[in-house]
Amino acid sequence: MDTKHVSRRNFIKGLTALGVAAQAIPLVNVRAQGVSKKMTVALIGCGGRGTGALDNFMAAAKLVGVEAAAVAVADVFKDRALNCGRRHGVPEERCFDGFSGYQKVLEQPVDIVLLATSPNFRPLHFAAAVQAGKHVFMEKPVAVDPPGARRVMAAGEEARKKGLTVVAGTQRRHQEGYLQSAKAIREGLIGNIVGGRISWCGGALWFKTKDPGEDDAHYLVRNWTSFTEMSGDHICEQHVHNIDIANWMIGRPPVSAVGFGGRARRKTGDQFDFFSVDLDYGNDVHIHSMCRQINDTYGGVWEEFVGTKGTAWGGGAMKTYDGTRLTLPDVAVASGDPYIQEHVDLLNSILKNAGLNEAQNVAQATLGAIMARTAAYTGQLVRWSDMAERKDSNFYNLTLAPAAEDFEKGPVTAPPDDVPSVPGHA
Ligand SMILES: NC(=O)c1ccc[n+]([C@@H]2O[C@H](COP(=O)([O-])OP(=O)(O)OC[C@H]3O[C@@H](n4cnc5c(N)ncnc54)[C@H](O)[C@@H]3O)[C@@H](O)[C@H]2O)c1
Repeated sequence: MDTKHVSRRNFIKGLTALGVAAQAIPLVNVRAQGVSKKMTVALIGCGGRGTGALDNFMAAAKLVGVEAAAVAVADVFKDRALNCGRRHGVPEERCFDGFSGYQKVLEQPVDIVLLATSPNFRPLHFAAAVQAGKHVFMEKPVAVDPPGARRVMAAGEEARKKGLTVVAGTQRRHQEGYLQSAKAIREGLIGNIVGGRISWCGGALWFKTKDPGEDDAHYLVRNWTSFTEMSGDHICEQHVHNIDIANWMIGRPPVSAVGFGGRARRKTGDQFDFFSVDLDYGNDVHIHSMCRQINDTYGGVWEEFVGTKGTAWGGGAMKTYDGTRLTLPDVAVASGDPYIQEHVDLLNSILKNAGLNEAQNVAQATLGAIMARTAAYTGQLVRWSDMAERKDSNFYNLTLAPAAEDFEKGPVTAPPDDVPSVPGHA
């Protein structure tokens, strides 16, 4: 994604949508309709994305005209919390470490909390943040197992009742091309969607080996992209973006999944390297989902939808079956960088008390990915109802261990490296 370029057209369109004249953008310390435009923010999980999200938040605050201050940060590792805190002027006594540091952050008088740890901690941290009455930005995915996804859905409802804003890091929902696609599909430009395919195929991510004397908890946190118990596997951690787009464009989550997958090259952890899954969206609509993390293989990150009148790519281009390219409707964004735009939308929702709440969308995309993963791991047909509704299903209480709370209670045991699931074995 091009994060450098914000076209003048998009910028002006976005400002117009915000009701702001371009020459009069207030940058600091302003008030609008009695709402204070000073806001405080805190970050839980000071890694690559977390520190990026805090920068994006600050950039969005400038665009919207909010005077923002970071007041607390937390990370398992003290040095990461301190480095991030220093960068944003957070006093050392409010740079918390350890597995309970998030609780200290939530005790602070802070308006907005950014959640960017590995996904396994998200349900615990999100529920605690909502309980503490904070507005939330949370990175995707938001769980690694069905009980975790349902916990996020429940906390999302609680947030709605409290009037809190919740924005998820599924940034395509804040990206101009995708917003145009969604609008065009709603307006019927390609007719009804009857099928499609989605892909996140690329190279391997980074991995870490265990240091001599390192305990399992810290090894798991450092090497989270290799363990399903921490990441949900890459179908959940990465491909969730594409599943989210399919859910959005079709207008509902899938009803069942059947699929394949395997492990070929990975050195640590227990994840698969590739998945190929049929997602059944009901009404005879099927989406072929494929994802792979293997170096030197054919790659591509995209979504394609087949409609009764034409075809659409998730991020923009559409055409009818006679080859005519369709003109997409205009949408308003303040930033051409969707990583910034998601925080613009977060701040505007808070300022206007608009109650933007993306918890259900991101939880449904996450649960869809968990359903697809479970189908591939077990070799079974897995239904949405198994994950979301049927308490008598074997999959309903499928809980990965160690659970988030276990890390706070004491030592945990990491799953063995290089022992993946075997389909057909109960
Ligand atoms: N939307 C996107 O495009 C995008 C891109 C990258 C990552 N992500 C997501 O962002 C999240 C973080 O990814 P990352 O790349 O920054 O990983 P990372 O390993 O760089 O950072 C995670 C940080 O969280 C800390 N942490 C882990 N558990 C914690 C806990 N219980 N309490 C406090 N701190 C804890 C770790 O020590 C680490 O510093 C993941 O969910 C990932 O899927 C999203």
